Amino acid sequence: MSRQAYRGAVFHFLDDPAAGGTRFFDDGVLIVENGRVVEASAWDEDVYRRLKGAPVVHFPHGLVVPGFIDCHVHYPQIDIVASPGGALLDWLSHAVFPAEARFRHEDVAAETARFFLDEMMRNGVTSALVFATVHKASVEALFVEAAKRNLRLIAGKVLMDAGAPPDILDTAETGYMESRALIRDWQGKGRLGYAVTPRFALTSTPEELEAAGRLVSEYPDVLLHTHLSENADEIKAVRRTFPDCADYLAVYEKFGLVTERSVFAHCVHLSPDEWARFKQAGAAVAFCPDSNLFLGSGLFDVEAAAGARIGLASDVGAGSSLSPFAAMAAAYRVCRLKRRPMDAFRLFYLAGLGAARTLRIDDRVGNFAPGKEADFAVLDANRLPLLARRLSFAKTAEEKLFAFAMLGDDRAVARTYVAGDLAYERV
Ligand code: GUN
Ligand code: ZN
Repeated sequence: MSRQAYRGAVFHFLDDPAAGGTRFFDDGVLIVENGRVVEASAWDEDVYRRLKGAPVVHFPHGLVVPGFIDCHVHYPQIDIVASPGGALLDWLSHAVFPAEARFRHEDVAAETARFFLDEMMRNGVTSALVFATVHKASVEALFVEAAKRNLRLIAGKVLMDAGAPPDILDTAETGYMESRALIRDWQGKGRLGYAVTPRFALTSTPEELEAAGRLVSEYPDVLLHTHLSENADEIKAVRRTFPDCADYLAVYEKFGLVTERSVFAHCVHLSPDEWARFKQAGAAVAFCPDSNLFLGSGLFDVEAAAGARIGLASDVGAGSSLSPFAAMAAAYRVCRLKRRPMDAFRLFYLAGLGAARTLRIDDRVGNFAPGKEADFAVLDANRLPLLARRLSFAKTAEEKLFAFAMLGDDRAVARTYVAGDLAYERV
């Protein structure tokens, strides 16, 4: 038994903030044993009895939070972040597809996977739902690296048999067979999970979308992960390509892809009727504010989405940073423009427990409930003079958290722990 304690400010959610789930301890303690949470509570007179002799690491200026969770990110696009140019469809052709073609080389995939996971750790992000490329080996490279680090991570091979250069296409048959092999090899192995990952409606034939639907029904534990209703030109093209479907969501519905295990990135332009069907199906949305601003896709309507599970996402490489603070700051601005500004608790919830619920991993991670896997980050403002100064004037927990969300970046992450083990320490 290895019991370890971390003293500092401790902040997490036992439930949605609107349901009274927020817990903030100015002087708190997180107790961990064998990689799992024992408790998160106030540092009080009784604490030494509960520590049972555990050594205590003290962060006098630290804020201990559950590891952040990125609900939608493309690891092969880490190399093309900040590519200027056109909107979605043009950016895909000019920046994304050439970059993804490089992943036919296994050494490129392995080296990029290592860099990507290092970046996640540097940013305090301990779980993610990840797009690989069309190449089966690109998924294997990521899973091999994630397994070495014992990360709770979900990923999938891109299904794409149309609408892209031939060197990055599969077929409905190979896409199905390779996805099946990956599910058999990796789903539930250690902390890893699989997501059936058709890129979007414009890059799969009806045959391949049908194959994706078969995978979803044959493997009830896996997720379905794709893009939906991001950009106006994309939506028009979907209507032209699938004239028998009344709207974009109907394409995915037709092939059995809209279920309570589906995660759809963007959902910027869904109609009220699409939202109603989306919620009825129990589907979840990855809100990608930084990406939506970068590509000029539009402003996500958080009010229209109310009632669906929502998590924050970087969508790197259309998003420019893996930092959850960048996502929170962009989310705040988007919601501000929609006249529905989010408070700090909501922002942190969407980057943590809300994201875990979106990915259906909240029985394992997302907060410090007893028994949860001890993925956490220690934040401080030591390297950020402006944030440190702003915090010195903050009177409430909410004000402090809001300052972190708006002013934080990777330098605010002092340490990242994965299943109780130190995975990153800022130098
Ligand atoms: N739609 C289809 N593919 C992509 C992608 O790689 N990034 C984004 N942002 N949208 C997409
Ligand atoms: Zn994306």
